[in-house]
Amino acid sequence: MSLLTSGNMLLLLLLLCGQSLGAPRSFSVDYKSDCFRKDGEAFRYISGSIHYSRIPRVYWKDRLLKMYMAGLNAIQTYIPWNYHEESPGRYSFSGDRDVEYFLKLAQEIGLLVILRPGPYICGEWEMGGLPAWLLTKKDIVLRSSDPDYVAAVDKWMGKLLPMMKPYLYQNGGPIITVQVENEYGSYFACACDYNYMRHLSKLFRTHLGEEVVLFTTDGAGLGYLKCGSIQGLYATVDFGPGGNVTAAFEAQRHAEPHGPLASVNSEFYTGWLDHWGSPHSVVSSAIVAKSLNKMLAMGANVNLYMFIGGTNFGYWNGANSPYGAQPTSYDYDAPLSEAGDLTEKYFAIREVIKMYRKIPEGPIPPTTPKYSYGTVVMKKLQTITDALETLSFSGPVKSVYPQTFIELNQAFGFVLYRTTLPVDCSAPTPLSSPLNGVHDRAYVSLDGVPAGILERNKALTVNVTGKAGSQVDILVENMGRINFTEKTTTTLKLGLVSNLTLGKDTLLGWTMYSLSIDEAVSQDLLGETKTTDPPQPAALPAFYKGSFIIPDGIPNLPQDTYIKLPKWRKGQVWINGFNLGRYWPTRGPQVTLFVPANILSTAAPNNVTVLELEEAPCSSGPCSVEFTATPILNGTVHSDDKQHRRLFKRICCGN
Ligand SMILES: *[C@@H]1O[C@H](CO)[C@@H](O)[C@H](O)[C@H]1NC(C)=O
Ligand SMILES: *[C@@H]1O[C@H](CO)[C@@H](O)[C@H](O)[C@H]1NC(C)=O
Ligand SMILES: *[C@@H]1O[C@H](CO)[C@@H](O)[C@H](O)[C@H]1NC(C)=O
Ligand SMILES: *[C@@H]1O[C@H](CO)[C@@H](O)[C@H](O)[C@H]1NC(C)=O
Ligand SMILES: *[C@@H]1O[C@H](CO)[C@@H](O)[C@H](O)[C@H]1NC(C)=O
Ligand SMILES: *[C@@H]1O[C@H](CO)[C@@H](O)[C@H](O)[C@H]1NC(C)=O
Repeated sequence: MSLLTSGNMLLLLLLLCGQSLGAPRSFSVDYKSDCFRKDGEAFRYISGSIHYSRIPRVYWKDRLLKMYMAGLNAIQTYIPWNYHEESPGRYSFSGDRDVEYFLKLAQEIGLLVILRPGPYICGEWEMGGLPAWLLTKKDIVLRSSDPDYVAAVDKWMGKLLPMMKPYLYQNGGPIITVQVENEYGSYFACACDYNYMRHLSKLFRTHLGEEVVLFTTDGAGLGYLKCGSIQGLYATVDFGPGGNVTAAFEAQRHAEPHGPLASVNSEFYTGWLDHWGSPHSVVSSAIVAKSLNKMLAMGANVNLYMFIGGTNFGYWNGANSPYGAQPTSYDYDAPLSEAGDLTEKYFAIREVIKMYRKIPEGPIPPTTPKYSYGTVVMKKLQTITDALETLSFSGPVKSVYPQTFIELNQAFGFVLYRTTLPVDCSAPTPLSSPLNGVHDRAYVSLDGVPAGILERNKALTVNVTGKAGSQVDILVENMGRINFTEKTTTTLKLGLVSNLTLGKDTLLGWTMYSLSIDEAVSQDLLGETKTTDPPQPAALPAFYKGSFIIPDGIPNLPQDTYIKLPKWRKGQVWINGFNLGRYWPTRGPQVTLFVPANILSTAAPNNVTVLELEEAPCSSGPCSVEFTATPILNGTVHSDDKQHRRLFKRICCGN
């Protein structure tokens, strides 16, 4: 008999479950009564996802409090490995990366924690949370029993898990359950590397102890669960509001015949991710509320993914395959907006939860006010080419064939590749990447004159003309690493990952500059542009700078704001050296970037630095950026591949 068919039977089980007495501070799965037990009592979580890595530390408390006030009793968070170990053995756990502080805050506020420490997390995060330096081992097979991979995982978990141990529920902390890996059942068409999952499971047990509830999460289908779940790890499923709740939970029951009543949905999607060039995703509050109600009525444990999405600052956004990068905003159409604002969806969800749980009393922290600082005039600084010496801290590397970012010891960002035309090209000659090896976008110029743009999967050729010996500069931008399905790691390599050709010839003799742009921006190393005759073309990748002062006499400033770059095309923007992320209004849908108040200063003028890669609107007079109080995430999209969104509907990097 299906457990899900009889509502009365469920009710009965729930009642039975609530009766036994237990020891203090324990958390477990009760397989006999099909429920979780916290301190011996039957327990059900209603949880929401929040990624501390996507929210400035100063706002953690505000966001957590809003989650608590919505009636949640738990939160779920990922730990992105590459955020904490950017180079091997150099760990970072302070400031915005202080995950221990985040856990303490959650506990103080009264929220339990479902921890998802990976090692792989997906989450639309750069390379699914795995550090790019893993790729320095050429044939590494990620997420498998590959000895190099496993050794790196062991070392990282040996650092992280002992740090997490005191925060386990049974040790006095907020963490009730810990996920092992993430959607492993979806990994390259079911490799079923059980040894890898067994190894992880043992590793987690060694560091965290026998008592903690470990679990796995997979797509709600038997195929996914087959490889993703192993004995000793509690199997959970994920699906969205459009999914068939009954069928999904039946799939989980198949893998996990007993355990918490109905099921655990680890990722109940409240919205959906965006891609550059595809319309902004929106999921109606009514649909989310209805599905949530249905699951809660079944007695299920639920996590809402995301409860607040936040922002992919810097270069931290991920991408999906076929290549499609996620934008800077990870708003997700979640109940709390990117900036933590209360939405209609928030209140709709709260109303549903109210029917099942007592909602905390007292005021909900209000939406933080936004301020419109107005227009800031921008002045041109050096082009990338002019600033090369300043930007290339380690100096150039020479080789016959192009090298990748990783070979050049660079994780992400920008590299300038330089060579010369081997022959005269008096007629337009195709400069091509026949193997689609530009990862991910390249800005080509000849002797300082723009020649066009190459883009992964989209534009593999530009025509060039010039004399033999002309300097060819190719600035390659990485737009976010994808999740991965194949055994090879080619898709994760960045830069020029295959040879470029000019006509029929392979281009040789490269000089490559790894660019430390973030360091140069924060150390204020960029100089003014030199005046040339004739003036430099406006379409070369170049820096621009402006500043603004927080007005006097207005209470409670600085406040959050959004930066908008009308008529600018594509690039990266920093404020006071903080990398806000990528802008690309010409592709859409994201038009404004979130600027949290904590990076603004009242003591000195605030410095805005823009790296415009295509063409700044400054050639005919002064150009500017704007600070506005209203976000625009659903701008018009300009893209030639309309089916992108459809493709991603389920195969997506399932968060
Ligand atoms: C949902 O799944 C159940 C069980 O597999 C099935 O009986 C039902 O018809 C499905 N409902 C819809 C709307 O597809
Ligand atoms: C390059 O030039 C050829 C011949 O003039 C033309 O057919 C082709 O479309 C051009 N390619 C690009 C990318 O402009
Ligand atoms: C470029 O071509 C050469 C010669 O065929 C080959 O050895 C080399 O691996 C290629 N380089 C890349 C980055 O594909
Ligand atoms: C902005 O730059 C100016 C000049 O480089 C510097 O004096 C000022 O302190 C900077 N402002 C902030 C907030 O860092
Ligand atoms: C974008 O969202 C705003 C606010 O929700 C809405 O008013 C507007 O109609 C939307 N625009 C488009 C193009 O969907
Ligand atoms: C990664 O993307 C591929 C292709 O889009 C997809 O098939 C696969 O399920 C994704 N992998 C994971 C682990 O989400």
